[in-house]
Amino acid sequence: MKSLSYLNKYLIKYKWRLLFGVLCIIASNYFGVEMPKIVKGAVNDFIGNINPNETFKNIAFLSLKLFGFYMLLSLGKGFFLFLTRQSIIIVSRFIEYDLKNEVYEQYQKLNYSFYKKSKTGDLMNRISEDVSQVRMYLGPGLMYTINLVILFAFCITTMLRINVSLTLIVLAPLPVLSFLIYKVSSKMNAFSKAVQVEQSLMSTIVQETFSGIRVIKAYLREREMNQKFNESAENYKAKTMKLVVVNALFMPTIVFLIGLSNLLAIYYGGLLTYSKQITPGDIVAFVYFINMLTWPFASVGWVTSINQRAAASQERINEFLRIQPEIVNTSDKPLGNISSIEFKNVSFKHENAGIDAISNLSFALKSGETLGIVGRTGSGKSTLLNLVMRQLDPTSGEILVNHENLKSINLDAYRRQSGVVPQEVFLFSDTIGNNIKFGVNEREVDEKELIEVTKKAHVYHNIQEFSTGFETILGERGVNLSGGQKQRISIARALLRKPNLLLLDDCLSAVDTETEDIILRSLAEESKENMTLIVSHRISSLRFADKIIVLENGAKIEEGTHEELISKAGIYSEMYEKQLADSEK
Ligand SMILES: Nc1ncnc2c1ncn2[C@@H]1O[C@H](COP(=O)(O)OP(=O)(O)OP(=O)(O)O)[C@@H](O)[C@H]1O
Ligand SMILES: [Mg+2]
Repeated sequence: MKSLSYLNKYLIKYKWRLLFGVLCIIASNYFGVEMPKIVKGAVNDFIGNINPNETFKNIAFLSLKLFGFYMLLSLGKGFFLFLTRQSIIIVSRFIEYDLKNEVYEQYQKLNYSFYKKSKTGDLMNRISEDVSQVRMYLGPGLMYTINLVILFAFCITTMLRINVSLTLIVLAPLPVLSFLIYKVSSKMNAFSKAVQVEQSLMSTIVQETFSGIRVIKAYLREREMNQKFNESAENYKAKTMKLVVVNALFMPTIVFLIGLSNLLAIYYGGLLTYSKQITPGDIVAFVYFINMLTWPFASVGWVTSINQRAAASQERINEFLRIQPEIVNTSDKPLGNISSIEFKNVSFKHENAGIDAISNLSFALKSGETLGIVGRTGSGKSTLLNLVMRQLDPTSGEILVNHENLKSINLDAYRRQSGVVPQEVFLFSDTIGNNIKFGVNEREVDEKELIEVTKKAHVYHNIQEFSTGFETILGERGVNLSGGQKQRISIARALLRKPNLLLLDDCLSAVDTETEDIILRSLAEESKENMTLIVSHRISSLRFADKIIVLENGAKIEEGTHEELISKAGIYSEMYEKQLADSEK
């Protein structure tokens, strides 16, 4: 339950609304407790008035008066109940909103390395399922708990005022009830935890199925995936069933114990009436009170399980919020134009990998230069670019930007000056225009500029073919682009930022050599002023580079210009010969 204390700051934030809610609960219970008193009065009056001398008119008048009072009290109770819900349930919605924003902000803060090791289904659960559970505690959970306490206080004081011994006897089954509720709810807690874990697993499977549906279908794995899901659903069902059994036993036990209280009220109350210690109306009022307490007490189990689920959920949210992003911006110093980048004996090892992805790498790059990076697959090219972008920090060595350690410069300013075309292109389900404008929000972008960059990325003619042009919607609700088209849109997106530092990770792999040539020429034009790092499998893509690094197992094994490397007869020239031969086939 300790984990829920995290929410106190929000409860404090909405303290006035909550206080109003509590006052409404008090008011509504005040009216509620007055109602049995009317019934009691009615019973006593009628018993006292049933004699032959009383006229029918008088009885009818009495009834009508009681009816009126009762109605007024009901209205009062209902009105304040409405206000209670309006305040407390609304607060729970407000806090849900705040908490979702807090979780979402944390999503944004966490780094690349965190996302590499987290499952999407699990991450989704944090903001949807877990926050919902917490809201149940803040809304109904809190409301019913406060209500129970206040109602109990009201009922008990009224009952004690009528007769102390009757109250004690009638309430005798209560400790048994509380003990049972406690026992059952801890069982419920254990079971519901297991249910939650299984649910998280299930949503991960579903999520992976959606995103991998093409692979699944291509490899005819539908049945296996179905089986996997069925197994998980089966587990989920089994665990939920256990929970259901406990839940099912719960209500009858409560009803039995309440019934017992009612019997005691009638039996012992009867004896007290006989000895004139209480009136018959008091017995009726007692039965009424006991039944008023029934539902709130019965719901203790439900509320406890809500609260415990919420505690488990909040614990997971807290754990998530406690994760410190490894890479944070520590400086707000302005940053001049990026004019140089230098790697000094940089090594990087992925957390769970045995070998260095980048090993003792040094190189330097100045404004106006283009660095080409080649190497076999897995040689560390993308890791190198991630280091340059500070998506990752070196395990050892340092990266200098404008002769200053990258770790100490203003990261936001640095990233604002860069444009990245990642190896795995990502486009949002939005219009083509908005996708290209994604990286530019500080200024208005007009159509002319869009045309300019898309021409540079050699994708304008494709966009023109769509009847809606830049307004064409991509993805789920719209058209699907080819791999090469996506890559070129992604290039246009980076170019629109007019970056001083342009990083291209194998971004021409899906286009033909002719298109590649056109794009490279316009990029060469572009890169006169800025720094460009271009990764490619294809040697031909690097011919405009001023310098080329050949990576193998994260280490630099060759370095030089295209011509120098060709004449060296090393791995670079070998790759070149091979690719040349392939293209001539
Ligand atoms: N998150 C990670 N955890 C552990 N190892 C990783 C991780 N990401 C990459 N690696 C490893 O680091 C090495 C370099 O990977 P990287 O993605 O930089 O290669 P690459 O040269 O870009 O390959 P490709 O040409 O296929 O894109 C590989 O051995 C890879 O298995
Ligand atoms: Mg790569």
